[in-house]
Amino acid sequence: MEFPALRLRRLRKNKNFRRMVRETSLSVDDFILPLFVHYGEGVENPIPSMPGNYQMSVENIVKECREVEELGIPAVMLFGIPSEKDEIGSQSFSDEGVVQRAVRAIKKEVPNLLVITDVCFCEYTSHGHCGVIKDGDVDNDETLKLLVRQALSFARAGADMVAPSDMMDGRVRAIREELDINGFKNLPIMAYSAKYSSAFYGPFREAAESAPQFGDRKSYQMDICNSDEALREVELDLMEGADMVMVKPALPYLDIIYRVKTEFRVPVAAYNVSGEFSAIVAACERGWLDREKVMMEVLYSIKRAGADVILTYFAKDAARILAGSR
Ligand code: PBG
Repeated sequence: MEFPALRLRRLRKNKNFRRMVRETSLSVDDFILPLFVHYGEGVENPIPSMPGNYQMSVENIVKECREVEELGIPAVMLFGIPSEKDEIGSQSFSDEGVVQRAVRAIKKEVPNLLVITDVCFCEYTSHGHCGVIKDGDVDNDETLKLLVRQALSFARAGADMVAPSDMMDGRVRAIREELDINGFKNLPIMAYSAKYSSAFYGPFREAAESAPQFGDRKSYQMDICNSDEALREVELDLMEGADMVMVKPALPYLDIIYRVKTEFRVPVAAYNVSGEFSAIVAACERGWLDREKVMMEVLYSIKRAGADVILTYFAKDAARILAGSR
């Protein structure tokens, strides 16, 4: 059958037809909201490059988490801004670290909200790199020794899932083993598997105060031109015991999300990162784009590409829109 018998516009005629044949659905169930935990008390610092986002101290994070739960969002991802940084990021594996304290407080006050912790060093090291520096570069195997301590410390604080974002080789296996021998065999790992060395992390580095003080992250994060390599990263992380894998950033890497989902058929998360958020927000502030429409289009596109879960700074806004839509 072909035109004029066939007319694809028939099923686009009105809203209910369109709803009926819609191929992709988006739900509040799909979102994780990233949050920045700041040391101290009474802190609610607006992040200039990420309008609507704040660095918050523990009691304000708990308040925020109540609102997140009321909106129906299932999970938050925590990043820490510690009071002191040093060469090895020791605050990140202290049981009194900012994230550890936030996890304990959230799990006490908002117990059903899932708390995921980012496992990395860049926010905690004086040099801003994601691991231990030796001879001017991040030393993989030395970093692993500390990374497992950090993951275990988050687990002991009550985290529901840990998410290594450092891109060291072998980290998923190392963390899995450490968790298992310490009684956390049921704690899942979400691996930032295909994490690119992207310029879209710019606003986050201001938010988390984690910019590298020399060089860049190209010796550990992935080259932006590669696609097969992302599949190798995902395959290795799955072999090492990752329960979920992540592609990051999301929008410039929709092809990677699609390939990972098609190839492996495992739960895939996509991180709609700070630069993707801020670019849209800035254009909307200038009146160049319609915030609500563009935000939903972007989130649908990430879902359509194959993501099961989306980490996004738009989570609260999108949850409100989805609750009021139809
Ligand atoms: C590293 C980490 C980064 C982000 C999440 N985890 C920054 C980096 O690798 O430099 C970026 C997230 C975003 O841009 O929203 N711990």
